[in-house]
Amino acid sequence: MSYSVAIDGPAGAGKSTIAKEIAKKAGFIYVDTGAMYRALALWFLRQGIRAEETEKIEEAITRADVTIVYEEGVQQVLLNGENVTPCLRTEEVGNMASASSVNPSVRLKLVELQRKLAATADVIMDGRDIGTYVLPDADVKVYLTASSACRAKRRFEELKEKDALGDKTLESIRADIEERDYRDMHRDFAPLRQAEDAVLVDSSDMTIPEVVDVVLGMIRK
Ligand code: DC
Repeated sequence: MSYSVAIDGPAGAGKSTIAKEIAKKAGFIYVDTGAMYRALALWFLRQGIRAEETEKIEEAITRADVTIVYEEGVQQVLLNGENVTPCLRTEEVGNMASASSVNPSVRLKLVELQRKLAATADVIMDGRDIGTYVLPDADVKVYLTASSACRAKRRFEELKEKDALGDKTLESIRADIEERDYRDMHRDFAPLRQAEDAVLVDSSDMTIPEVVDVVLGMIRK
């Protein structure tokens, strides 16, 4: 039986940083489910489809093949055979992923892929609905969060470092994060929420190594 660790939480809580580190230390495969929603979002954006155009979205996903491969242990997302991984981390794609992922047909397509990955390997998977919907029997469930002020500040520093702030301010980043949280928590199908059996970790006043240690301490393999 493969072992699974589910990490859910809002945007910018540090899920991917923590999950990558734990994957390395525990020898698990890291599955970034947000990247899969982002790949489909990119597909919709490229075709000029808006998130509210449900019928167009449902048609477009029948022509989208999302595959995951690992290159030197790092997840790569292929969209119809093209490696789109470098195109996925923009704000535009992230916002479209949040808006288009309310569509059940988008979710069902990706959930199938996520469950297959978890059935074949020991995984640490992060997202919004992993502990509640994708892997309800995960061995470890963590709900990782931080205040929106703190998450906005981290994102602001990250963009500043990359010289990618553009016209964004700390306030606009925080507003964006809060809008995304609201949408992710209030959709009808598999919304973001803490699973009853998930451990809540608030990383607002914690360092990355501290969070990694807390989660590693929960893994009993
Ligand atoms: O984690 P992320 O920022 O890469 O995710 C982008 C969006 O994708 C997020 O705002 C909502 C959606 N998403 C989802 O609905 N379910 C997941 N398991 C992962 C992401």
